[in-house]
Amino acid sequence: MPKIITLPGDGIGPEVTAAAVEVLREVAPDLTFEEHAIGGAAYDAHGDPFPQRTRDALEHADAVLLGTVGGAQNSPWNSLPRPMRPESGLLALRKALGCYANLRPVRVQPGLEHLSPLKPELARGVDILIVRELLGGVYFDGDRKIDGDTAYNTMRYTTPEVERVAKMAFWAAEQRKGRVTSVDKANVLEVSELWRRDVQALRDREYRSIHLNHEYVDSVAMLIVSDPSRYDVIVTENLFGDILSDLAAVIPGSLGLMPSASLGDGAGLFEPIHGSAPDIAGKGIANPAAAIMSAAMLLRHGLGRSDAANAIERAVALALREEPTRDLGGQADTKTFTNAVLEAMGTPVG
Ligand code: NAD
Ligand code: IPM
Ligand code: MN
Repeated sequence: MPKIITLPGDGIGPEVTAAAVEVLREVAPDLTFEEHAIGGAAYDAHGDPFPQRTRDALEHADAVLLGTVGGAQNSPWNSLPRPMRPESGLLALRKALGCYANLRPVRVQPGLEHLSPLKPELARGVDILIVRELLGGVYFDGDRKIDGDTAYNTMRYTTPEVERVAKMAFWAAEQRKGRVTSVDKANVLEVSELWRRDVQALRDREYRSIHLNHEYVDSVAMLIVSDPSRYDVIVTENLFGDILSDLAAVIPGSLGLMPSASLGDGAGLFEPIHGSAPDIAGKGIANPAAAIMSAAMLLRHGLGRSDAANAIERAVALALREEPTRDLGGQADTKTFTNAVLEAMGTPVG
């Protein structure tokens, strides 16, 4: 009886997580679920965006399913001391789980090209895996400060940090088309010089069958939307990966179609890449596809149940054809879309 810790969080997080749990219950009735607090909701209830009881619960988790955290631009949460803010709770969670590799697939399923704002011939067949380093770089470096009219953050990486995430990218590429693009800013940054050197050395030592190339992040920002088919696996540091993956959401057509799996030392963390969408929270219209596909990634990468994962992904593709949500130009609300997924899996919906 694998145990899944669910962390719905803020904004649309509870809405999309409920949809994902509903689908998981259908395909894997043996799973048990235990819900805990994270983010702004956890701060409000317990005075901490990553409370001790949530941290303790992780010890018995086989996998963690997260919704979203964070408030609107004018939320009082944004004036809290930084460690108390919702986003800090999420970063502390990732750190606690040791999830250093964040897999963000970008896929246009056959027959769903019309959901993309790109020309159909550009969107067709796109299948990119962005591997984002998740525990290093400017996000976590302690060398940071804001003091009067001066502020700084530090982007620092060590060889072991680069190698462990690069290994994950090479491993993924071995089961795909065997091509990895490492993305950096080595024409300006020393930290990118190290990144590039170490990724190349690892390829030359241990992954000779992989075709590796290196590209600059600014150029990739243009090419990923103008010629997405050139990419198979992209591996990059934390901040570049954050930005490029939201940009890549344009390709399938919405942030609501972007799931993720964060893997590392222990239990995996599975979460949509989008935020709490304060503009639509509480209205029941959020697209739950990213959360549902994150649940599929949980089954595949967290529990080794690829068949169930494939069944969910097939059903989501069908539901997107039949009942597209509003972010995709359709009419379906969260419930209607989730029911369409359940129906596509052969579940009678009452
Ligand atoms: P956002 O991703 O929440 O929203 C950007 C736009 O995309 C909005 O118009 C929103 O309505 C839309 N959108 C996002 N997900 C959607 C979905 N599933 N269905 C339909 N539409 C969707 O980004 P933001 O507005 O910049 O951030 C809002 C809050 O979320 C901030 O507090 C931010 O820090 C936080 N955030 C959290 C996460 C996370 O929990 N992993 C990720 C990104 C942002
Ligand atoms: C994401 C989010 C987070 C990040 C924030 C909310 C801390 O943008 O998951 O992409 O920057 O990693
Ligand atoms: Mn992001």
